[in-house]
Amino acid sequence: MARETFLAGLDLGSTAVRVVVGQRQPNDAALHIVGAAEHPSDGISKGVVASIEDAVSSISQTLEKVERMTGIPVEHATVGISGTHILSQDSHGVIAVARPDGEVKEEDVERAIEAAQAVATPPNYEILHVIPRSFTLDNQRGIKDPVGMSGTRLEVDAQIIQGLSAQLKNLTKCVYRTSVDIDELVLGVLGAAEACLTKRQRELGVTLVNIGGATTSMVVFEEGDVLHAKVLPVGAGHVTNDIAIGLRTSIELAEKVKLEYGTALATDVGKREEINLEEFEGGESAVVSRQHVAEIIEARLEEIFSMVDKELKAIDRSALLPAGIVLTGGGAKLPGVVDLGKKVFRLPASVGFPTNVTSAIDRVNDPSFTTAVGLALWGGQAEQKGGGFNVPGLATVPEMTKKIRGWFKNFF
Ligand SMILES: Nc1ncnc2c1ncn2[C@@H]1O[C@H](COP(=O)(O)OP(=O)(O)OP(=O)(O)O)[C@@H](O)[C@H]1O
Ligand SMILES: [Mg+2]
Repeated sequence: MARETFLAGLDLGSTAVRVVVGQRQPNDAALHIVGAAEHPSDGISKGVVASIEDAVSSISQTLEKVERMTGIPVEHATVGISGTHILSQDSHGVIAVARPDGEVKEEDVERAIEAAQAVATPPNYEILHVIPRSFTLDNQRGIKDPVGMSGTRLEVDAQIIQGLSAQLKNLTKCVYRTSVDIDELVLGVLGAAEACLTKRQRELGVTLVNIGGATTSMVVFEEGDVLHAKVLPVGAGHVTNDIAIGLRTSIELAEKVKLEYGTALATDVGKREEINLEEFEGGESAVVSRQHVAEIIEARLEEIFSMVDKELKAIDRSALLPAGIVLTGGGAKLPGVVDLGKKVFRLPASVGFPTNVTSAIDRVNDPSFTTAVGLALWGGQAEQKGGGFNVPGLATVPEMTKKIRGWFKNFF
């Protein structure tokens, strides 16, 4: 798999491992997806590795599937990382401009970003992304590119995203065991944003909410920059668990009921609509009210959305971002979820499909695949991106700076 031609994205979800292989097109046309596969995941719990052996086996089986499909072995991939250990914080770096004539050089910008990295990193954490937002040069705020300008004091506002070192290492180890090289470890939901958000949405202000099986992750953009990111420990799997408890059935049956009859808006369901559990394989002879099921789903999703809104309140953006809420991930496929989102967030809402690519495979036109597609896309734009974690053990600050330099070169 030639590095220049093929890009792979690997998403290790709590319910499924997904891999997407894209082929770069000449003249910077959209990435063309040539392979996509998924396999039920084992050994991954709430977005982090719970058993290395099981996780390796799930990843290997997913890779085998996609290799059979494309006929090319996956040798390297951009790998998504998730989990509630992820921390996102604002940071500020200040330096004195080096040249006596006060002209800002790229080196100054790098030093300012390095200074911003020196924020209090909790012990055992490692920086995944350093995303510069804007610069201030001698009290002139809001500068996007200070190189070439004159001043004495250069400041940068940046968003720092970090993760627990141990989790980074476990994930890296799993992927390496499958003989796949990691191009970069990327926060999964940041990858997803690449696939389903437009530049305009990010400029206006938007929140991407990825409803997974065991986690819900979010990232907030404003003026094109990342404002906040968070991974919450609840997902659509909790909806299934609630149905199982509410109906006193097995998890498997509850999941089938959810997929077949579930909706997030109880008011949309007629009072008399019934679900006969016998129609499902292994179902018991019982009849349940569909409205009751919808009420269970609505209650849990409302709780998840309220948790997301609480994060928005913490950064003073609740009900404020004009491009609203984009919902993606398997949980976003539930009927009624968009309307419930509009209600809870008091904002426009829509479902995010992986749209920023072309594809020969129908399978990827699915919100469950947004993250994997986005990670493949990320690989193609890595030179333009800030930070990106260079695998533990191999990570060096100069490496990081090189990437940041690349980011600046291409971004501006
Ligand atoms: N058609 C559908 N309708 C409703 N829910 C669905 C549908 N398809 C999948 N889901 C739900 O989506 C969830 C899985 O989502 P997804 O595949 O995005 O999770 P994941 O990436 O494996 O997990 P995580 O991101 O939390 O690690 C499951 O709870 C599943 O029930
Ligand atoms: Mg996921």
